[in-house]
Amino acid sequence: MSTFKAPKGTYDLLPPDSAKFLAVREAIAAPLRGSGYGYIETPGFENVELFARGVGESTDIVTKEMYAFETKGGDRLALRPEGTASVLRAALEANLHKTGNLPVKLWYSGSYYRYERPQKGRYRHFSQVGAEAIGAEDPALDAELIILADQAYRSLGLRNFRILLNSLGDKECRPVYREALQTFLRGLDLDEDTLRRAEINPLRVLDDKRESVQKQLGGAPLLRDYLCDACKAYHEEVRELVTAAGVVFEDDPKLVRGLDYYTRTTFEFVHDGLGSQSAVGGGGRYDGLSEMIGGPALPSVGWALGVDRTVLALEAEGVELELPATTSVFAVPLGDEARRVLFAKVTELRKNGVAADFAFGGKGLKAAMKAANRSGARYALVLGERDIEQGVVQLKDMESGEQTAVGMNEIVAELESRLG
Ligand code: HAM
Repeated sequence: MSTFKAPKGTYDLLPPDSAKFLAVREAIAAPLRGSGYGYIETPGFENVELFARGVGESTDIVTKEMYAFETKGGDRLALRPEGTASVLRAALEANLHKTGNLPVKLWYSGSYYRYERPQKGRYRHFSQVGAEAIGAEDPALDAELIILADQAYRSLGLRNFRILLNSLGDKECRPVYREALQTFLRGLDLDEDTLRRAEINPLRVLDDKRESVQKQLGGAPLLRDYLCDACKAYHEEVRELVTAAGVVFEDDPKLVRGLDYYTRTTFEFVHDGLGSQSAVGGGGRYDGLSEMIGGPALPSVGWALGVDRTVLALEAEGVELELPATTSVFAVPLGDEARRVLFAKVTELRKNGVAADFAFGGKGLKAAMKAANRSGARYALVLGERDIEQGVVQLKDMESGEQTAVGMNEIVAELESRLG
């Protein structure tokens, strides 16, 4: 064992569990690919100012959780704590919004970094699959994203998740609400830190998980009652479209998110089997973000689903993903001559699209058959000296145990037809 361990708050993805992560990423991406979203990849780090301005100077993410550093060249960078600001930065930089084809719909998958206190479901390095639809104000677009996330979770067999939906208003109505909330919060018995937060970012106080705070918030004014007519109508339309799609959600007038760029539609996907880190995904509309980072007005909406937590949610529900064995054929040579002949066959099988593996390391028959078993391969190919003389190879069906001799020149075609 090496003296090095994975850094605190991180973990390694190893086979066979890593296959689950791949399957989850694939399942989340599939509905996006089928709905006009194109794949985007951005760097793992950005100018720190992008997140400060985009995510918000006063958010926990920016003030406490960002891996910010100065490069040898003097650039102030940060490992990305989230994907939205980067994706929008990239879209603006490449002028994707000027092609006349709005919204620009993009999806991504990658690693994100937050210096949080690690616990089950909360890591310092985690993985998201996300989607952003940039440059259109249309309730159907918000609805599309909520429906696609629901579809992704369901395709994985996840059942016990809930969708929480809220509207955070816009630059017309939110300031009015903000003041009303501040006035209310000033009258409460809150500690100094919380009172300070109430002055800088009062909506975040609603999200305070402490019992002592929550019990005082019962009479807090709700944004719902302050929405302007345009926001109200927009939200009602989103609700109707999502409902019409048969997707069930809960109105949560207290839902606020940990990032400052949200306007109007906000939502979170929560799973009740996960304890305190119950949000498996979240998102919403961010109509002002583009201008906040120096771009033109580009109303947009998106979400990111946490891959780590989705895997935990599947485990909590006892869902076994159907992961087909990656190896179809496992070759077992007995002797040097057999190794040369069979290794060539394996290469030929692979060229023909058959997933094949080989008993490396000169194993004896028993150990090699054990390896064949472990590989999950449907068929084993065993080649001994006598088989070589006779120009055949033993084809063993690992399910039925049945073994037949097949001509060396016919074996590739035979396997192709058997594996369909
Ligand atoms: P977020 O709610 O900060 O939103 O993160 C989305 C998801 O990432 C969470 O629901 C959770 O599953 C996962 N996640 C976040 N932090 C951690 C962590 N420390 N450990 C494990 N999983 C974590 C965003 O990031 C927004 N960019 C979403 C968005 C896209 N809004 C609009 N477009």
